[in-house]
Amino acid sequence: MLEIKNLVVQIEDNRILNGLNLTVNDGEVAAIMGPNGSGKSTLSYVIAGKEDYEVLDGEILLDGQNVLEMAADERAAAGIFLAFQYPLEIPGVGTMTFLKACLNAQRKARGEAELTTPEFIRAVNGAADKLEINKEMLKRALNVGFSGGEKKRMEILQMALLQPKFCVLDETDSGLDIDALRIVSEGVNALRAQGRSFLVITHYQRLLNHIVPDTVHVMSKGQIMKTGGKDLALELEASGYAEYRTGEAA
Ligand SMILES: Nc1ncnc2c1ncn2[C@@H]1O[C@H](COP(=O)(O)OP(=O)(O)OP(=O)(O)O)[C@@H](O)[C@H]1O
Ligand SMILES: [Mg+2]
Repeated sequence: MLEIKNLVVQIEDNRILNGLNLTVNDGEVAAIMGPNGSGKSTLSYVIAGKEDYEVLDGEILLDGQNVLEMAADERAAAGIFLAFQYPLEIPGVGTMTFLKACLNAQRKARGEAELTTPEFIRAVNGAADKLEINKEMLKRALNVGFSGGEKKRMEILQMALLQPKFCVLDETDSGLDIDALRIVSEGVNALRAQGRSFLVITHYQRLLNHIVPDTVHVMSKGQIMKTGGKDLALELEASGYAEYRTGEAA
C-alpha cells in the first residue's frame, strides 16, 4: 500500500527526516511511537503534501504511484488522509460547507457524481451519530471554539465520510476523554478493511489497547529505529526510549 524509501527531508536547513524507510501493507494498522521532536508529525505532513518541506532524497509510493509528484489535493483524491495533531480553526467556513466541499471535490477528481444535499446530510448524520457528535457542532464554523476533544472527533468524522485509502492519525488520542477515546477508536476500527491502511502516531499504549496495531515502529531522530508487533508498544511503555535516543537504526 505505502512504501517509503530513504526519505530525507529538511525545513529551513534543519534535517528532520534522515533516510526513513517504512512499508505499510494493504489492510495493515501500523503504529509509530517515538520521542517528542523525532519527526513523526513532519512525516505525516510530508505524506499529506504540506508545503514548506524540502524533500532532498527518497520516495513515497502509494500502490506504486509516486506521491511526492502529486499536489496535496491530488493526494487527497488518491485516498491519502491526515487527521492533524493540531486541527486548524477555520473562521467563516461552516463545518457542513467544508465537509461537503471536501467530499465532492474528491468524488469529482475520481470521476464520481457529486452527492446531492439530502444524500450528503444523511451521510454526515450517520457518521456523526456513530461518533456521538452533537449536531449543533456541525452548524458552527469549522473547529472554531471546539474543545480539544471535539476537534479530534471532527477529524475522525471527516475520515469516516471520505473513506480514505491511507489514513494517517497524528496523536488523535491526545485530548480525548476516556469515553471519546473508545468512541473514536471504534470509529477507526469500523473502517479497518482490505484496501485501507492506517498509520497511527501515538505516545501511549492506551490507544493501542483500543486500536490494536499489526505493527509498531519506533522513530527517533528522523529514522525508524525498530519495528515489531504490538508487544513492542508494551516494551516501550515499560522501558522508555533511552536505547533509541543515540546511535543508528538497527
Ligand atoms: N518550521 C520548522 N523550522 C525548524 N524546525 C522545525 C520546523 N518544524 C518542525 N521542526 C523541528 O522538527 C523536529 C520534528 O518535529 P515534529 O513535529 O515532526 O516532531 P514529532 O515527532 O511530531 O514530535 P511530538 O511527539 O512532540 O509531536 C522538531 O525538532 C521540530 O522543532
Ligand atoms: Mg507531532
